[in-house]
Order: sequence, then C-alpha cells, then structure tokens
Amino acid sequence: MRHFVFHLALALVFATGAAAADPDGARLYAERCSGCHGDDGKGDGPAAAALMPRPRNLRDAGFWQGRTLEQIRGVVAKGKPGTMMPPFAGTLSDAEMDTVARWVLHFDPARTDPK
Ligand code: HEC
Repeated sequence: MRHFVFHLALALVFATGAAAADPDGARLYAERCSGCHGDDGKGDGPAAAALMPRPRNLRDAGFWQGRTLEQIRGVVAKGKPGTMMPPFAGTLSDAEMDTVARWVLHFDPARTDPK
C-alpha cells in the first residue's frame, strides 16, 4: 500500500508538472503563473478573464515603482488577500519561490536580466 501511495504521489507530481528537481524560473512561471498572468506577464492568461480583480500588467513600469524582490517573494508565498492570487508556500519549495520571484522581476521594463 505504501508503495502504491508513493507511486500515486509520483504520478501526481509529474501530472501537475511540479518542477522540484529543476527550479527554473521560466518553467516554474509557465507551469504555475502564466495561466492567470499570461506568458508575457501582461495579465492575459486564459484564466484571467474570469478573475476579479484581474491580474494587472506586470510589464507596466508603474507597478515596479518601489517594488522589491522581497515583496514579490512575499506575495508568491502568502498570496494577495482579496484576490485570486494564491499562496504558494507549501506548494513550491523556498528555492522555487525564490526562483520564480526572481523570474517575475524580468517583466520590469527597467530590467533586462532575468536573474
Ligand atoms: C489563479 C490565478 C493566479 C495564479 C495561478 C497566480 N496569480 Fe499572481 N495574481 C493573481 C491576481 C488576481 C492578482 C491580483 C491582481 C494584481 O495585483 O495583479 C495577482 C497578483 C500578483 C502579483 C502582484 C502583487 C502585488 O505586489 O501587488 C504578482 C507579482 C504575482 N501575482 C505573481 C505571481 C506568480 C509569480 C505566480 C506563480 C508562482 C502567480 N502570481 C500565480 C492571480 C494569480
């Protein structure tokens, strides 16, 4: 039974595309975020139209005024109250949350380096 449960868990991990072994920002974002935020961060993912408030355009320079990596990391971990932005603590590892938060910074038009 334990063996079966282990395999079931493994199958689920692959089915949902959890990328624990490869915490790559672009891939994590594509798997976990782009459905709402859009491939390019513009807030136009397939699920976005159903959300209220809708995900904003993360390409907008105004959004990044005074925003820090720590704040982005915090939103990813805890979610955003009053919105459909889900908390990822417990779903993603700390390293994955760091990686995907760093990846999001590259939507800032003032930055070019995705690291
Ligand atoms: C179920 C849809 C959904 C998913 C999945 C989702 N978000 Fe969000 N996100 C939202 C909504 C809705 C908001 C609130 C509107 C806004 O601030 O853009 C938001 C807000 C944000 C913000 C702005 C927070 C701020 O400082 O105001 C960031 C950054 C963000 N999300 C990053 C991510 C990242 C990174 C992921 C993947 C790890 C992700 N989101 C997954 C829907 C989602």
